[in-house]
Amino acid sequence: FLMKKIIIAIDGYSGCGKSTTAKAVARALGYTYLDSGAMYRAVTLYFLQHFINPDVPKDVKRGLQSLDISFHNDNSNGIQQVYLNGINVEEEIRGMQVSSKVSEISKLGEVRKAMVEKQRKLGKKKGIVMDGRDIGTVVFPEAELKVFMTADTTIRAERRQKELLEKGEMLSLNEVKENLERRDAIDTKREVSPLLKASDAIEMDTSYLDFEEQVSTIIELAKERMN
Ligand code: DC
Repeated sequence: FLMKKIIIAIDGYSGCGKSTTAKAVARALGYTYLDSGAMYRAVTLYFLQHFINPDVPKDVKRGLQSLDISFHNDNSNGIQQVYLNGINVEEEIRGMQVSSKVSEISKLGEVRKAMVEKQRKLGKKKGIVMDGRDIGTVVFPEAELKVFMTADTTIRAERRQKELLEKGEMLSLNEVKENLERRDAIDTKREVSPLLKASDAIEMDTSYLDFEEQVSTIIELAKERMN
């Protein structure tokens, strides 16, 4: 009954349901959930707000030094909200403005270095579910459980379109699909820590998986690794 705390890394393409799955897994296990994509989104928002040109290394560096990202559990429901320099930016970072720029910003080596360092600190105590693109490959290559999620592009776009609509942003399926495909392309082709399935990751195609089933599969795997 003495279960050890582990790190669960969930990586994969945009819109596969990584974060909803990761959240549910974390809740069931009493683990912390950390959305690494939210950190890259917050950096992107900051760069947009301050007109930082990603092609000017000096400006990127200064930008990174003047931003502070933190997570707070506002409603004590276990779900963390992202703060940028003390302001809750949870809503703002999910919109299309940030989504269309985030891959450009997250391919910068300086940005990745700063975020990876922070993610490692946040996961040091284990007992964490972290989702992203490079968690199992770069951030925590020693993670006890690694899941790599994929899903059909049209299905991913439909899900994302619905999410955006719930936030009041109306986009065509094609627009959403194009954004996903463009992000996937940049995320997989970038030089620094590209999106890649770790050799020891378990691949999960979520196109036709039942959500509950998806979550319980990961929980079962996690429990095996805790022993
Ligand atoms: O998970 P998400 O869709 O919110 O992530 C937004 C973007 O952030 C994604 O397109 C690429 C980048 N990202 C990254 O480069 N590395 C991570 N670990 C997480 C996200």
